[in-house]
Amino acid sequence: MSSQDSSGELRVGMVGYAFMGAAHSQAWRTVNRVFDLPAQARMVAVCGRDEAKVSAAAAKLGWEEAVTDWRALIARDDIDVIDVCTPGDSHAEIAIAALEAGKHVLCEKPLANTVEEAKAMVSVAAAAGARGVRSMCGFNYRRVPAVTLMRQLVESGRLGTIRHVRAVYLQDWIVDPEFPLVWRLQRDKAGSGALGDIGAHIIDLTQYVTGQLITGVSALTETFVKERPIPAAMSGLSASADGQGGGQAVKGEVTVDDAALFIARLSGGAVGTYEATRFATGRKNGLRVEFNGSLGSVAFDLERLNELEVYDATKPGAEQGFTRILVTEGDHPYLSAWWPPGHIIGYEHSFTHELRDFIEAVATGVDPAPSFADALQVQLALDAVDRSAASGSGWCPVPSAMAEVEV
Ligand SMILES: NC(=O)c1ccc[n+]([C@@H]2O[C@H](COP(=O)([O-])OP(=O)(O)OC[C@H]3O[C@@H](n4cnc5c(N)ncnc54)[C@H](O)[C@@H]3O)[C@@H](O)[C@H]2O)c1
Repeated sequence: MSSQDSSGELRVGMVGYAFMGAAHSQAWRTVNRVFDLPAQARMVAVCGRDEAKVSAAAAKLGWEEAVTDWRALIARDDIDVIDVCTPGDSHAEIAIAALEAGKHVLCEKPLANTVEEAKAMVSVAAAAGARGVRSMCGFNYRRVPAVTLMRQLVESGRLGTIRHVRAVYLQDWIVDPEFPLVWRLQRDKAGSGALGDIGAHIIDLTQYVTGQLITGVSALTETFVKERPIPAAMSGLSASADGQGGGQAVKGEVTVDDAALFIARLSGGAVGTYEATRFATGRKNGLRVEFNGSLGSVAFDLERLNELEVYDATKPGAEQGFTRILVTEGDHPYLSAWWPPGHIIGYEHSFTHELRDFIEAVATGVDPAPSFADALQVQLALDAVDRSAASGSGWCPVPSAMAEVEV
């Protein structure tokens, strides 16, 4: 079993080098320079399918080596951690092989494309955990300091009993019907559309902040643009610059949702509304959540991620009102390691914080969160949303991950 080599290094191999690969690389490069940790991450190798492209990525992102076979990467003795940054169709295969080979695994969200895959990953992760091999799913928004602070406020009881959860994740990058049929628009690659890509984040975030699980949903989904141009590389046609073959656009079917909306019940008695869409024209990465409790409320907007709006209903009436907290103080989560108060942080820091917690857990021999079981709980909610929408918005209970898998 590999865990951490004798020099206190955690030697990392990362699979996938595009969007998340770049974000994770930034975090692997930074984490030990900002946080004092019991182990030092070493960026040993990045893996991709195209030798030239992965070599260029390794040089740009700071990896010692570029490799093209993830199975060979997992088999190496000089790798302790596998960081999975590929689309969902390869998460299960890579993560299971890595855990079985004794490598700690950080796997991007959503954990898998199906509940069945996610269950298999949880079972293997549980067996690996018993051998000291750790696993974690990359729901990075938990590590935005203002989000962690929301969780602390709820957990401390300051907001009383949480009754309402209001969560949206709004993007607009496929409003144009000529936007191509990329992997995120294909069910076999992505599992689902806006639902699994961004809806998964607000499901995890709201379950994390409230400590309550979604127990049932009624949902509807919509695919507004049903066919899109197939990118030349996928169609196999020699393409003209505008992505058309033989003068005629080759189109393929969009097999995922463009938008998903649902209402939910949570295990502590709260009710929730959720909306995830890639058709909110003008909204780029609009993740917003609000929680209303018996003693107060809290609201967060990712586009203003250093801020939290807090309402304290226990204050004298004349002093009541939403207060804007600038979450940059040294006693706010993660922030003592960064800059003086008021010197704001951004998106990328959530990944550095994720790795801070991952490295600390691995090096000190505890299970990091969110676990694969936590991520299965999200997957079960995604699946219930899909089933409810297919049934014409019928009520679909969400089973408990603990009951679904013997761990
Ligand atoms: N945490 C977040 O906020 C966040 C944001 C975006 C994406 N994601 C997740 O990260 C994962 C990757 O998304 P992305 O946006 O980086 O995608 P991307 O298309 O930008 O990058 C995918 C990478 O995987 C590689 N790849 C694809 N199939 C592969 C295979 N079979 N073997 C080896 N390499 C393969 C591609 O070459 C590419 O380098 C997805 O699960 C996605 O849901 C998470």
